[in-house]
Amino acid sequence: MVNKNEQEIKKTIRKTYGKIALQDDSNASSSSCCAPGCCSGGGDSPTQAATVIGYEQSELESVPQASVLGVGCGAPVKFANLQKGEIVVDLGSGAGIDVFLSAKRVTQEGRVIGIDMTDEMLERARINAKEGGYTNVEFRKGDIEETIPIEDNSADVVISNCVINLTTDKVEAFKEIHRILKDGGRMVISDLVSDRKISRESIDLEKWSSCIDGTLTKEDYIASIRKAGFQNISVLEERLYMEGIEEETGGRKIVSTVVKAVK
Ligand SMILES: C[S@@+](CC[C@H](N)C(=O)[O-])C[C@H]1O[C@@H](n2cnc3c(N)ncnc32)[C@H](O)[C@@H]1O
Repeated sequence: MVNKNEQEIKKTIRKTYGKIALQDDSNASSSSCCAPGCCSGGGDSPTQAATVIGYEQSELESVPQASVLGVGCGAPVKFANLQKGEIVVDLGSGAGIDVFLSAKRVTQEGRVIGIDMTDEMLERARINAKEGGYTNVEFRKGDIEETIPIEDNSADVVISNCVINLTTDKVEAFKEIHRILKDGGRMVISDLVSDRKISRESIDLEKWSSCIDGTLTKEDYIASIRKAGFQNISVLEERLYMEGIEEETGGRKIVSTVVKAVK
């Protein structure tokens, strides 16, 4: 729990991402955050932003265009080594980009479930699924640090892209992930961490929903995963997320990371 009211943080997140979900495809990321360039005023198209984040052009062309918002901070599907028939859960699925990329990999024998707490995002993702003819995907409403609407021990893989940093209780979110994974199941998560803790007094709601003020240090992030019961925790990728944004981050360095852990 942080000193700012948890409900206020969630309200701001829903408002921010609800607004992004309602924007047309060409400028979704420009006023958003959790997107390269956002803090310095944006300007990148969602596709440009997604390329900078790590998606391949061919991947972006293979999914519904309206699912590409450019608001992630990595490309977790690349690292998840998804197999035919697997059950995948994407936490904070937004407009569905990683759900659609995963759907292709697990084939009709598998299933991908996207979870999001913002109604407008769920609506956009469901339209994308329908228009794209996806029959092995589903989007459910849920807050990932309360109860993920998925049964215990039922998922092979949990992925997530730039969402855990938005939660106010990371350990609870990781415990929920641990609960829904099968024994031996894996989570592969792209997220942001920072090089220094922010003081509780300095937390700003807008910067929290822009994926800055909710970031933990890498050490605290990994400790939260361990506390939730995970084993074999490894950092698969680390890179400086954005340059020249020290004014917004209060001088902290924000790093994009991909973390894998096993139940
Ligand atoms: C930065 S966007 C990333 C969207 C998507 N993963 C992507 O890469 O395009 C964060 C998403 O997570 C959702 N979100 C934030 N906190 C959440 C929570 N506690 N539970 C469920 N969804 C959440 C937001 O509604 C938003 O759609």
